[in-house]
Amino acid sequence: MEIRLDGKRALVTGASGGLGLHFANVLAVAGATVTLAARRLEIVTAEAAKLPNANAAELDVTKPASVKKLLSDKNFDIVVNNAGIAINGPALDTTEEDFERVLGTNLKGVFNVARCAAHAMKLQGGGSIINVASILGLRVSGGVAAYAASKAGVVQLTKALALEWARYDIRVNALCPGYIETPINADFFATGAGQALIKRIPQRRLGQAQDLDGVLLLLASDASRYMTGSVIAVDGGHLVSGL
Ligand code: NAI
Repeated sequence: MEIRLDGKRALVTGASGGLGLHFANVLAVAGATVTLAARRLEIVTAEAAKLPNANAAELDVTKPASVKKLLSDKNFDIVVNNAGIAINGPALDTTEEDFERVLGTNLKGVFNVARCAAHAMKLQGGGSIINVASILGLRVSGGVAAYAASKAGVVQLTKALALEWARYDIRVNALCPGYIETPINADFFATGAGQALIKRIPQRRLGQAQDLDGVLLLLASDASRYMTGSVIAVDGGHLVSGL
């Protein structure tokens, strides 16, 4: 079955690069009209111009006024809460400011955008919200306390919102990628530690952004009309690696 999204309006947060830009491309190629949102308007404007049916918007998910400005102007059928940051390091060295920054973007940012989008979705009769969490929201590793806590929060927030908004036909699901190769982590995966990590993934390779396309399109489309509150890992089996 080919999944098409013609006539749907989609928002992708943090769409200036990495997975967010990839997600925006996939949704646009499937026929959706996509708004690429990010803090740096000039970057998303340039990227949107390369897509068939896309536009750009300035958005800082940590700033309620910025979220409100975008979402009071536009309604969406699909919202991909992708914006996220990681500040890694031992918990003993993690400052309160760093902890708040990670939680503020990854967890509160998702809540800000989801809540504002859901107000409009409720009036228009439904929609699909896809929260990009992580396998680190389901298991832990060293040096990622704030990030893992924020993503675990996203998983639980997804379920709580799904429960409350099912009555409005708003579906809320979480996509939990494993380690996906992007320009930002390429250097780390070339190191000995990076290579050792790859060996612990049952499929013995890093994920590619394209490996997420199937689940993204599934959750964005009516093919998942009876799915809400689901948490789907796409990780080459990393979560089931042996203890
Ligand atoms: P990235 O750093 O390339 O992209 C994150 C995007 O979010 C950037 O465009 C950044 O500008 C944007 N952003 C950050 N703070 C923002 C804010 N306050 N308002 C609006 N936009 C903001 O990282 P990547 O790898 O593309 O990650 C995308 C999402 O996928 C994140 O939520 C990340 O936690 C998640 N993820 C990534 C994995 C990976 O292996 N790359 C694995 C699991 C989850």
